[in-house]
Amino acid sequence: MNKVRIGVLASGSGSNFGAIAAQAQSPHYPGEVAVLICNQAPAYARERARQLGLPEHLIPNRDYAHREDHDRAVVAALQAHQVELVVMAGWMRVATPVLLAAYPDRILNIHPSLLPSFRGMHAVQQALNYGVKISGCTVHIVRLEVDSGPILAQAAVPVYPEDTVASLQQRIQSEEHRIYPEAIAQYIQSGYRLPQMPTNAAIPATLDRQ
Ligand code: GRF
Repeated sequence: MNKVRIGVLASGSGSNFGAIAAQAQSPHYPGEVAVLICNQAPAYARERARQLGLPEHLIPNRDYAHREDHDRAVVAALQAHQVELVVMAGWMRVATPVLLAAYPDRILNIHPSLLPSFRGMHAVQQALNYGVKISGCTVHIVRLEVDSGPILAQAAVPVYPEDTVASLQQRIQSEEHRIYPEAIAQYIQSGYRLPQMPTNAAIPATLDRQ
């Protein structure tokens, strides 16, 4: 099997990167991790890459005056590793048109909420503040607007009254580690088919007016 070359972008602990890399070691998995790119020197994701024997690149965003220039450096590194599919895993950067144009419909992200609820940096805290009883995570295709884009997979988890950000985050992350590698594999195996909307997805005029 010809495995698709995946480039992972991470800024932090890299537990999702680790989960994806572990799955990708299976001969049956349709992708392989070609490179990890980090923008933060102390990110533990880098250590994980070293332990796994995977190439990693540090590209600190603070070295670049403009977000587009940073993305140009990221694209150059991805291309140097013949990356075909980009996977954001805790990448704390907003994608610019430079990155999106280099990999159209080939950039995925995971977000710790059931989108479109609770976009942005503090999704888990927002879910607690709102008092929702169910939260979860979403794998989606990256678009210019943050935490938007076609949804590939979601998983729900309960929210308990005694939850803290840490406890809820942990419950959500267990699901992330399960659905992200799965969603990536399915997206590759589908030939990068964009998700179909239900045929009755258009909002009826009566609801639209409310
Ligand atoms: C995940 O919870 C993900 O939803 C969010 O950033 C976190 C990254 O965690 N985008 P890790 O670095 O993969 O452990």
